[in-house]
Amino acid sequence: MNTSIEFEKKLAAKEAVKLLSDGQTVGLGSGSTAGYAIREIGKLVKNGLQIRAIPTSDHSRDLAASLAIPLVDINSVDTIDITIDGADEFDPSLDLIKGGGGALLREKIVAAMTTDLIIIVDSAKKVEVLGAFKLPIEVIPFASSFVLRRITNLNGEGTVRMAGATEYLTDEGNYIIDATFGPIRDPSSLATELNGIEGLVGHGLFVQMARKVIMGVDSTTKTFEA
Ligand code: 5RP
Repeated sequence: MNTSIEFEKKLAAKEAVKLLSDGQTVGLGSGSTAGYAIREIGKLVKNGLQIRAIPTSDHSRDLAASLAIPLVDINSVDTIDITIDGADEFDPSLDLIKGGGGALLREKIVAAMTTDLIIIVDSAKKVEVLGAFKLPIEVIPFASSFVLRRITNLNGEGTVRMAGATEYLTDEGNYIIDATFGPIRDPSSLATELNGIEGLVGHGLFVQMARKVIMGVDSTTKTFEA
């Protein structure tokens, strides 16, 4: 574990939870940085913060439950006030690649319902152009070969993510294809192309969704606003 990167993640998480207030519905992201935020939220709840939370993965749900953070069914709310989540890359327009941890489908649904999507990252996640990190794409297993061919048609190259000898399964029981497209200079048009592929249920391009990116850098934080 790179300790300075972990320190930056913790700093970003601590800064982000300052944005929470009583009465909010809060989306809980997934991944190690979001995990730091969930632990901070657990402390705030213990000290009296009154929120209700919606986790983006089974892992985040279990972590939140272990910290006695009140959880609510996503289907019982119309909107989410604020979500704190991580990312694998962000660019100067605050477009993101997410899904390294495989939770992108629920993360994007929660993000789409959220007024203020706050992204927390370490400084290694900042890029000029998205695409060095392989783009995670969630597909129903029945469609995986078909989607792989469509990715090739888009001049990409994908492989099904494995967990040992078998395919990695998401919380929704789907496969992940990790795909490279070279530098993604127009995330919006690639997102549109991917959205049109049958059997592809989600991808990790989050275009114009983040309100703020809070980045830990050395011993401080830097905030980027949309
Ligand atoms: C999970 C995600 C994570 O937020 C992303 O992979 C960043 O993870 P980490 O905070 O561990 O670097 O999108 O699906």
